[in-house]
Amino acid sequence: MSGPRRLVVALDGPGSSGKSSVGAAAAQRLGYRFCDTGLLYRAVTWLALERGIDVADRGALVGLVDQIELAPDAAGRLSRVIVGGRDLTDQVRTAAIDERVSEVARLPEVRAALLPRQRALAAGGGIIMAGRDIGTVVLPDADLKIFLDASVEERARRRAAERGLGPDEPAARRILDELRRRDRLDSNRPVAPLRAAPDAVHIMTDELDFEETVAAVVAAVRRAAGADR
Ligand code: DC
Repeated sequence: MSGPRRLVVALDGPGSSGKSSVGAAAAQRLGYRFCDTGLLYRAVTWLALERGIDVADRGALVGLVDQIELAPDAAGRLSRVIVGGRDLTDQVRTAAIDERVSEVARLPEVRAALLPRQRALAAGGGIIMAGRDIGTVVLPDADLKIFLDASVEERARRRAAERGLGPDEPAARRILDELRRRDRLDSNRPVAPLRAAPDAVHIMTDELDFEETVAAVVAAVRRAAGADR
């Protein structure tokens, strides 16, 4: 008898909803690969800034896409980003990139150039791919679509706590303002805006801790794969 089917799982949701950490943990439990597509947009942004390329110069930005590689970390997750043999994973997650990445992610030419890369990674199944438009644009035929959500206040509280900040500190309030700004930009851009696919399973995490959220994702995948039957 063959084991459960190995699915293609699209995991979308707003910034700081826990997609990367939850998706990676769920993938590990399922023996799936994990891919965080936000890294690709972050890497294009980082390279543009480093090379002094105007983030409005679409042709030049598209030219950067082929130089970016995702590589597995020690646990086999595609969560490292490499350019010319150089590991940029830490550099692309800074506040400076947070601030500029939406300008790059809104450009249709950049999104189109990244599409085949993302689809190729998903080929063969057994993958959780996280992003904003995975269920709606990148993998509209995914076996399972999950939309991981939390209120903006809760997402800001978690991000501030990660950085050791109390909720009333000015830096914590800046995190909340920045998340609101990025939500607005991600949701209102004309191309591939942040939206739940109509057939996505919604998981609202305000009342769930990390372990409960991972368990909810794993359960949804097992259900969809027919492993519970
Ligand atoms: O998930 P993140 O914060 O690392 O994403 C960084 C940026 O890239 C954010 O502005 C949204 C954008 N993004 C996107 O538009 N589509 C994706 N599939 C993934 C990320």
